[in-house]
Amino acid sequence: MKEKNGALCGVVLAAGAGSRLGYPNELGGKPMVMAAGRPLVDHALAKLAAAGLSDVALVVNPSNRPIIEAHVADGRAFGLHITYVVQQEPLGIAHALGLCEDFAAGRHVLLLLVDNLFQADIRAAVAAYAARAEQGASQAEIFLVRVPNPEDYGVAVLAGEQISALVEKPPSFISDLAVIGLYLYPPTAFGLIRELAPSARGELEITDLNSLFLQAGLLSYQKLYGWWLDVGTEERLAQAERLLAE
Ligand code: DAU
Repeated sequence: MKEKNGALCGVVLAAGAGSRLGYPNELGGKPMVMAAGRPLVDHALAKLAAAGLSDVALVVNPSNRPIIEAHVADGRAFGLHITYVVQQEPLGIAHALGLCEDFAAGRHVLLLLVDNLFQADIRAAVAAYAARAEQGASQAEIFLVRVPNPEDYGVAVLAGEQISALVEKPPSFISDLAVIGLYLYPPTAFGLIRELAPSARGELEITDLNSLFLQAGLLSYQKLYGWWLDVGTEERLAQAERLLAE
């Protein structure tokens, strides 16, 4: 039987350096922080399974790997097949994705950051992207959500309906459309990652990768509705608990 969304594999990033949520790496770090009775990594894997993916790489770091691997194992409990990829140092989201090139083996990738929780059902968007991928499309796709605190995120500036610029954590207001931690990439992303230089914070930035697709005219976007949270602080974790409980 042909695998659902077979042109697509998943990547979940769970290798960040510790967290402000008081959960040290040795206890699994941010991916093992509980939200509504389940660790964040469970929410991320469940989202990918619900989106019709089956083959997923989980990027961990050397300290949290044993805890996360003991919990997730081979992914069967989530209806997934998990491959572990270790990022030795947190050198950026694009760097972590780049480590998954062999795993992806020429497939398109759905990338999800473990600390991103959202309400929207992405099944239709993912299925439409996978169908275009099977027909040879090579666009990347990002998802935008209107937020009150855009300075905390990567943002997209629109000129009419087109994206004119992508900026990581703009110091002054240029747009309130945050680029959330959910991305769809063609296999060409891996070659582009090799062209990236580290940013001022010493990371290979996902916003720089997206900007390369934008410059090439190969970036599309969708606005997502419903709540979205980057669970980076105690306050946002508490908010996530409330929203997930509803
Ligand atoms: O949440 C959405 C935002 O995520 C985007 O709007 C930004 O454009 C994007 O840069 C990112 O911003 P953050 O500064 O919040 O990313 P953070 O460093 O917190 O990393 C997000 C997750 O990715 C984190 O849970 C762990 C994982 N990660 C991060 C880095 C830097 C890795 O696995 N490896 C890494 O090297």
